[in-house]
Amino acid sequence: MTSHQPISMISRRALLAGFAVSTLSMTARAAPAAEPMPKMLVTKDPTCSCCTAWVEHIRAAGFDVDVVESPEINRLKARLGVPQTLVSCHTAEIGGYVIEGHVPSEMIKRLLAEKPEGRGLAVPGMPMGSPGMEVEDMEPDTYEVVLFGPSGQRTYARYRGGREA
Ligand code: CU
Ligand code: CU
Repeated sequence: MTSHQPISMISRRALLAGFAVSTLSMTARAAPAAEPMPKMLVTKDPTCSCCTAWVEHIRAAGFDVDVVESPEINRLKARLGVPQTLVSCHTAEIGGYVIEGHVPSEMIKRLLAEKPEGRGLAVPGMPMGSPGMEVEDMEPDTYEVVLFGPSGQRTYARYRGGREA
């Protein structure tokens, strides 16, 4: 009976070692082939051009984007639950989230990786210097990327122009 305990401890240690090894090899195998990013659908007003500049920024970051032009963009925003106070020009949908306005691509990647509770991210208005809103010789604005949802809003990140501030 006294020999029972050491044996079970050894096998438990062996089991843990085996688990650690298999976890490691799984990580090593999963790392190079990252999960493919979901496709993005952008809806924009046909008369707006800064949306097109933002789409270029998003595509340059590796996103696969479809663009739909619609003069009924405000109805879509209401349907997707974008609060009136957070409204911007274009509205995008990706991975079950809503992206309102000139949200930097890194924040969308962070959103998809972290998967926080909420409806989506918004950069309200059209801050100067935000992705797609770069104007030469103009001072970039400081602005917030807001995470919004049925339970409220919080600051997800703070930016100045194209950089986190
Ligand atoms: Cu815009
Ligand atoms: Cu626009």
